Amino acid sequence: MTDPTPQQMHLINHSDLQAFVEAILLGNGTPPANAAIVAQCLVAADLRGVDTHGSNRIPSYMERIRQNALDARAQPTLRQVTPVAAQVDGRNGFGFVAAHTAMDAAIRMAREFGMGMVSVKHSNHFGMSAWVVRQALDAGMMSLVFTNSSPALPVWGGREKLMGVSPIACGAPSGDPRRPFILDMAPSVAARGKIYKALRRGEKIPEDWALDQDGARTDDPARALEGVMLPMGGPKGSALSIMMDVFSGGVLRGGVCGACDESPDLFMSMEEFQGRMDYLYKRVVESEKMAGVDRIYFPGEIEMITEEQRREKGIPFAASEIASLNQEADRVGIAHLKVQSSN
Ligand SMILES: NC(=O)c1ccc[n+]([C@@H]2O[C@H](COP(=O)([O-])OP(=O)(O)OC[C@H]3O[C@@H](n4cnc5c(N)ncnc54)[C@H](O)[C@@H]3O)[C@@H](O)[C@H]2O)c1
Repeated sequence: MTDPTPQQMHLINHSDLQAFVEAILLGNGTPPANAAIVAQCLVAADLRGVDTHGSNRIPSYMERIRQNALDARAQPTLRQVTPVAAQVDGRNGFGFVAAHTAMDAAIRMAREFGMGMVSVKHSNHFGMSAWVVRQALDAGMMSLVFTNSSPALPVWGGREKLMGVSPIACGAPSGDPRRPFILDMAPSVAARGKIYKALRRGEKIPEDWALDQDGARTDDPARALEGVMLPMGGPKGSALSIMMDVFSGGVLRGGVCGACDESPDLFMSMEEFQGRMDYLYKRVVESEKMAGVDRIYFPGEIEMITEEQRREKGIPFAASEIASLNQEADRVGIAHLKVQSSN
């Protein structure tokens, strides 16, 4: 059971917090320049009120270092693929450092060529996406930042943890540097970090955030973490989480560019990419279904099926719609629309 008593809160100065976080990182073997980047990103999240992705994450990151799941000493490498595309290998170090290196390279390319794209592989969690967008904003640039994350969300109609609660972030500068456009959102009703935060603080969660292990709605964060997150906007949130897997789990991280099957693709061969997409399709449509659901569709699949049926049987129009189209026909003196069949 979750403790329902709210805990007493204390205020910490952000500079003190940043120095403290940096010292912990240094003490765990992180090189000084990288410790500064990670501490700055975490405190940036705390400052923006995104405390789900701030300094409170330090114990879990340090645990990953102790378990050798994350290499605190790793230094990312950068491979220039074309003048406007590069790939960063995070070498299993902090995601913050890999993403910082990637955005640095994207900014450099955009300064010279007007745009830059960087994919990151072998990385780890990078916290709040908005800080990566802010890095571009500080250089006066627009950006799109995609990442995939560990499975926590079912696809629409499904009930198993299949897709990540992967945030979509986008930024554009404005005349007033205090008011840039920053979109930074997970495709779930709420970010999973908000459930961890409620658990840490002994609070309940709204019932529309998650389902427990039995597929029932719950306001208990512990039960919610055993279950699945709910996608925002039904099939639309689910499709966005699949998009993040395609663009940051498959395309941007591993392979990209549907237009270049004659030449080697930017990050992997077209065949390998198509194979990955076919696998993703199967995983999605064959995932465990929610009660009452007969079939799970891939984004765009319903429309494909409709198109096939309508090519064969015709496109349905109401009599009133045909009448107004025929009025336009009369105006230009052409024949009325031919009706294929009626029901
Ligand atoms: N790295 C990861 O794997 C990972 C995974 C999931 C989430 N996250 C992070 O979690 C954080 C929280 O995500 P979230 O989906 O809960 O965000 P959120 O719901 O708090 O905010 C989503 C967006 O809506 C805007 N917004 C919210 N309320 C608004 C209002 N009343 N009026 C106008 N705009 C409003 C915010 O500015 C933001 O751009 C993000 O920083 C995200 O990057 C990270």
